[in-house]
Amino acid sequence: MKTKPFVVGVLFLASLALATTTAWAGKRPNPYRGKSVYKATCKLCHVEGGEAKNLAPLSKTQAQWKRLFDNAKKIGACVERVEKKCGTKLSEEDLRNISFFLISHAADSDQPETCGE
Ligand code: HEC
Repeated sequence: MKTKPFVVGVLFLASLALATTTAWAGKRPNPYRGKSVYKATCKLCHVEGGEAKNLAPLSKTQAQWKRLFDNAKKIGACVERVEKKCGTKLSEEDLRNISFFLISHAADSDQPETCGE
């Protein structure tokens, strides 16, 4: 069988290409997606006059957001609150997107944002 090494080679390259594209898709956070998830979940409580204090990207600096998202306990508590409130189970990817959105529009970022208020 002469064709076998060729077929194996092609399959190997194909799986390698697939693995790299999925790895990339998983690694690159999407701040637009983050913003919409943030508005649909976090903003249910974190608004002026809401259950929790108003939170917008510019409420904190980039370092403060990073610290909060590194603090699994604090964010985990709100992930549970979100699930109780609206039944949405946020994934790791959702959280990564949300944190990327918040950090890239933090008070000391190039484009501080109030999140449409
Ligand atoms: C069901 C209501 C609710 C939802 C939904 C919710 N939170 Fe909270 N969150 C709270 C409460 C209550 C506290 C604690 C009291 C406070 O800080 O006002 C809190 C505290 C926090 C804090 C700490 C505030 C600080 O300055 O130390 C952060 C950060 C936070 N939430 C982020 C989020 C994020 C991000 C989401 C969306 C993924 C979210 N929350 C969704 C109710 C909620």
